[in-house]
Amino acid sequence: MPDITQLILNDHQWFRQQFADLDELQARSDTDPRELSRKWEPLASRLDVHAIAEEKIFYPQLLAHGEDPEDETLDAIGDHNDIRDGVAQAERSPVGSRQWWEGVWAARRANDEHMGEEENEGLANFRLHATTGLRESLGQQFSEFLDAHPTTEGLDNSDKDPEGYVEAVEAEIGSSDPTRDGLGIGSLKEN
Ligand SMILES: [Fe+2]
Ligand SMILES: [Fe+2]
Repeated sequence: MPDITQLILNDHQWFRQQFADLDELQARSDTDPRELSRKWEPLASRLDVHAIAEEKIFYPQLLAHGEDPEDETLDAIGDHNDIRDGVAQAERSPVGSRQWWEGVWAARRANDEHMGEEENEGLANFRLHATTGLRESLGQQFSEFLDAHPTTEGLDNSDKDPEGYVEAVEAEIGSSDPTRDGLGIGSLKEN
């Protein structure tokens, strides 16, 4: 069964490769905007769905099991908002236009900075403090979520207030009712 920290790392590597592929397309003078679109659309969707999946499945568990996880989580949600904003800017602009590239680069820069931090902070923290069984069962959930959502259709893709997010998850962790499922994350203590 896959470990969630490995699945997240695999996605990060895929993101880097897709942005590198966009460089190759940009370097060719004869690139058709439809080719840019074919490369960008799956990347844009996955950037957003990946962030949502982490917010639903990974960060609540980091808050429940990690060591001093609050600051890392606050940073991560803020970074996810920056990535979403870049993706949204590109989505509003004609593919291949200056504004489109600005959005793509805003998403790329925000994502690049974020991935490094997430890998060295949240993912490392979770490997050190969560059991293998938990990491694998979350990996299963993460994988199923990505398979079920090839795009953001039907998902809440809005920016989230980092402090409000952490408070809501911590309230859930502190809840004595294990059947409570306000964030759709089930009982954090039982895992
Ligand atoms: Fe990530
Ligand atoms: Fe992330």
